[in-house]
Amino acid sequence: MTRPFYVTTPIYYVNARPHLGHAYTTIVADVATRFHAMLGENVFFLTGTDEHGDKVVRAAKKENMTPRVYVDTISRLFRDLWPELGVNNSAFIRTTDPDHMAVVEQVLQKIYDAGDIYFAEYEGQYCFGCERFYTDRELVDGKCPDHETEPETIKESNYFFKMSRYQDWLIEHIRSNPDFIRPERYKNEALAFLNEPLEDLCISRPKARLKWGITLPFDSNYVTYVWFDALLNYVSALGYPDGERYQTYWPVVQHIVAKDILKPHGIYWPIMLKAAGIPIYRHLNVHGYWNVEQSKMSKSLGNVVEPLELKNIYGLDAFRFFLIRDMTFGLDSNFSEAALIQRINSDLANDLGNLFSRVLSMVHKYRQGIVPEVEAAVEKECELGLEADARDAIAEYEKLMTSFQFHNALRAVWKFISRMNKYVDVTAPWELAKKKSSRKPLDVVLYNLLEGLRIISGLVYPVMPDTAAKMQKHLGQNPKSLFYLIEHLKIWKALKPGTELPKSIVLFPRVEPGSKKTDTVAKTETSGLPSDSKPEITIEQFSAVDLRVATVVQAEAIPRAKKVLKLEVDLGHKRIVVAGIAEQYTPEELIGKQVIVVANLKPAKLMGIVSNGMLVAAVDESGPTLATLDKPVKNGTPLR
Ligand code: MSP
Repeated sequence: MTRPFYVTTPIYYVNARPHLGHAYTTIVADVATRFHAMLGENVFFLTGTDEHGDKVVRAAKKENMTPRVYVDTISRLFRDLWPELGVNNSAFIRTTDPDHMAVVEQVLQKIYDAGDIYFAEYEGQYCFGCERFYTDRELVDGKCPDHETEPETIKESNYFFKMSRYQDWLIEHIRSNPDFIRPERYKNEALAFLNEPLEDLCISRPKARLKWGITLPFDSNYVTYVWFDALLNYVSALGYPDGERYQTYWPVVQHIVAKDILKPHGIYWPIMLKAAGIPIYRHLNVHGYWNVEQSKMSKSLGNVVEPLELKNIYGLDAFRFFLIRDMTFGLDSNFSEAALIQRINSDLANDLGNLFSRVLSMVHKYRQGIVPEVEAAVEKECELGLEADARDAIAEYEKLMTSFQFHNALRAVWKFISRMNKYVDVTAPWELAKKKSSRKPLDVVLYNLLEGLRIISGLVYPVMPDTAAKMQKHLGQNPKSLFYLIEHLKIWKALKPGTELPKSIVLFPRVEPGSKKTDTVAKTETSGLPSDSKPEITIEQFSAVDLRVATVVQAEAIPRAKKVLKLEVDLGHKRIVVAGIAEQYTPEELIGKQVIVVANLKPAKLMGIVSNGMLVAAVDESGPTLATLDKPVKNGTPLR
């Protein structure tokens, strides 16, 4: 029977649009799934959206929508994004699906009947952003560490899940299954949480405070708290408890999450499973965070990276490759377009792309595009260990992909690509082509190079499925066949001599730094400054412009943008403004300067940074000169 493989992503909250972080986890899950399909396994890949809770209610209100309409709208954004990113999920679950809601009720009832849920009064520090109570120890300077806001004291009667009862069991389970949470640093982090006494988990909200949730089956005045609802998606999507999919896939489940939700997945979830009598999941695979310019990606900082924008500019496979190659699974990574361009040019255009077009061009030049015959007598002397290196690369790749070390698996592939490039240099087919007597060695060399490319096309398939198919087509194979099956890759000399190959193509065009996204840099605020010929306006129209006094608190140059500086200005609150003044001012001379900011200008993205406002300046042929005040004024003071 075919081995099953089941992988899940977190179900994403619908209170924000999908961004680079969501794209990364989902692409990783897609890569893992495609890799397991290469192993010939029966794969199932689940993603979806988490749609209950007060965060969603508040977000809907802000948009003037009912929660129902709102969740439908945002959930669709996620669902529609995945095919655009080459993600081939098997199912998409929503916590508002009636089948899911029925499973949540059923499991709650089961745990309640077993005596692990009790009713009690609770007073605590509640963060509305996180939808959870915080202990004093968890707060930083009395504030929620994520939202940096002071929590509110809330007192209410609620239902609690007796997690404490399972603490010792969980410690033992984690210790005796070393790969249960991986990489190891997160296993250690989970064990560190468990060093402290585990508090019972509040699993309900009174309907008086929140209606948008699943009603507790044993008390209709309450809805269940988000985690109890959300985590169960992983089994409800499979038709728990009787579904065939549940029987097939649940025993092999692997979860993928980022470090932000280690605690719910590493602590609450196994305990919930244990209490409900459901077998515990196999592995929790935890990755780090994508940061932008060393800081957390967030709407308020205006540095949210849009995956579709990057795909449209740089191409899907290049984008997927960058994400998987650049982040060491488990550690944080810093996103920058410069790093993306660097990877495209060096790893894709240079190493892989050049090898591919070089080999195909030679096959066309010297053998009219026909896969040559290999004669056994000369094969040995011309092979130079390439076959053994290919086998090693496949074995290494398989081991690393299986253990979620995707970045290292790609390194192993690129080691082989570099080996292939050296093989070209050492065998020098252009020299062999000069001598009639070298006809057979040249056949062998070209054949081996085509074989190597065939193997590479299979190995890159999980990360770059379109590129794999393109390469296959140019190697005379049917891209629809199961060419990527690892068993097939392991057969050396699978290419049929005599096959006619199409002409070579450029797999990855080089990207000139500054030629793409950087075009937008030209649009600094100086271009919007008034000229003499503007039409007359009324005082009301003028007062629609919110001019404010602000002090520059930080200033820095932006790599690759000669004219632009990134400023942090304080106008009562801090915000980021990108200004086209780098040729007139140094960052140092700006810090502490009071300037005038157009505070209600629609945010615009410049150099990948969202600028929230613009500085007022006089502009002549020497460039902008900043408008300032003749004595210091409180930050945020309006100008009239
Ligand atoms: N709804 C919960 C999860 C419930 S799962 C039963 C939730 N949703 S979320 O929308 O906040 O998604 C969090 C997840 O999104 C992270 O665990 C990670 O997979 C992904 N990421 C969000 N921001 C990220 C980065 N900046 N970097 C990497 N991944 C990030 O939590």
